[in-house]
Amino acid sequence: MRVPIVAGNWKMNKTVAEARDLVAEMIPFLRDVQGVKTVFCPPSPALLPVSAMLQGTDIGLGAQNMHWEEKGAFTGELAPAMVAEFCQYVILGHSERRMYFGETDETVNRKVRAAQAHDLIPIVCVGETLDENESGRTSEVVSRQLSAGLQDVDPASASRIVIAYEPIWAIGTGRAATGPDANRVVADVIRPALEKLFGAQTAQAIRVLYGGSVKAGNAAEFFAQPDIDGALVGGASLKADEFVKIVYVARAEVLKGGA
Ligand code: PGA
Repeated sequence: MRVPIVAGNWKMNKTVAEARDLVAEMIPFLRDVQGVKTVFCPPSPALLPVSAMLQGTDIGLGAQNMHWEEKGAFTGELAPAMVAEFCQYVILGHSERRMYFGETDETVNRKVRAAQAHDLIPIVCVGETLDENESGRTSEVVSRQLSAGLQDVDPASASRIVIAYEPIWAIGTGRAATGPDANRVVADVIRPALEKLFGAQTAQAIRVLYGGSVKAGNAAEFFAQPDIDGALVGGASLKADEFVKIVYVARAEVLKGGA
């Protein structure tokens, strides 16, 4: 039984003061939700204050990126140990990192292995561009991102890894994939690629989230899919009521025996 995750990727939004307000607004509604794991991924300066606010709740905390090296002359970067001091999760290989900051499958791979070494749960993002989608290359692109990105990952802890399937054309566009289409990519491409890497049992244990224009209004469509185990939410995670609703929709699906 895979416990679904609803993770909020705040991206480069919210000062520490704003982050505190947002978290304070959501905590009463999310602190004790059973059967769904909620994770906040605020920008780096907010990690410490938010981690203090989350003490005693079931809400997890994640960073949005990190470096793979232990420490040293890497101006502007966060080391795995710095992230692990406050967080249980770290988003890796988000398409915006790949697009604007030169992240490659190889750097994603180094980061995933560093996360494992520090007991962090990586949320590894994969997904195709509109052009790749329209030219029928989704399967090829996503399979490559997984086989290269998860190469030489310790199979003993591979079941803790979380994958986020985020078609790039659906991110921040208001144009989400359909539930069945997203489920098809997860079932026909992502789980088989994971099976090739780690075996059938681990491939079934790994949680695969959908991301890309998820909101309260369309969340049920994704959570009801058998192979989708939650969501990575961008824009809608910046509004307390909207994000709380998404978590509650996931909870309702769990009670129905869906996600
Ligand atoms: P969005 O972003 O929900 O704003 O489309 C999702 C993401 O980039 O993780």
